[in-house]
Amino acid sequence: MFKLAVFLSGRGSNFEAIVDYVSKKKLPIEIALVLSDKEDAIGLLKAREYGFLTSVVKRNPKKQSLEEFNTKLKIECEKQNPDLVVLAGFMRVLTKEFISNFKNKVINIHPSLLPAFPGLDVQRRAIEAGEKFSGCTVHYVVEEVDAGTIIGQASVPILPDDDEHTLAARILKEEHKLYPRVVEGIACGKISPSDKCVSIDPMFKLNDY
Ligand code: GRF
Repeated sequence: MFKLAVFLSGRGSNFEAIVDYVSKKKLPIEIALVLSDKEDAIGLLKAREYGFLTSVVKRNPKKQSLEEFNTKLKIECEKQNPDLVVLAGFMRVLTKEFISNFKNKVINIHPSLLPAFPGLDVQRRAIEAGEKFSGCTVHYVVEEVDAGTIIGQASVPILPDDDEHTLAARILKEEHKLYPRVVEGIACGKISPSDKCVSIDPMFKLNDY
């Protein structure tokens, strides 16, 4: 079994999309851990309902440095020995130490067509910039936020009367298709990282969903 550790801070709809896809396609993938920095994250509650192993590592910036927080994350995560760490709306910064500990094994999904619009509030910023298209990006995680090697993207139009919510909803639908497919590709050895690029089996169509 290929083991996933999913990190989330919120509603966990991408996490659910991965769970649904894995179960529908009967993939040899196990959700070994769902970890959150928020004990009341909806995604964490859903994970418990599914019966997955969960863990809460709270972030307290007053009492704890970012490094200490990341050390705790690392310890919790390592216990399950995951093959892949899947960030699904995890709103905390991972340190270089954490990332190098899971080298080429941490991926994230971001609701813009990176490298355009890294960071926060990206749907609103894309509309304000007058863009005609936006979308989502799955990428390997490096120390710089939203800057790692891109694995796959899906685009959507930005319509004239869109606001950040309507656009976010349109992008999210694509996220729910793209992210599980990327996880499948990595788990089945069809997608593999190399230093500054990603190799994808030409027979494995990322947007074939
Ligand atoms: C998604 O828009 C994702 O791109 C971003 O955070 C959001 C998480 O949504 N990184 P959900 O918790 O998976 O519903």
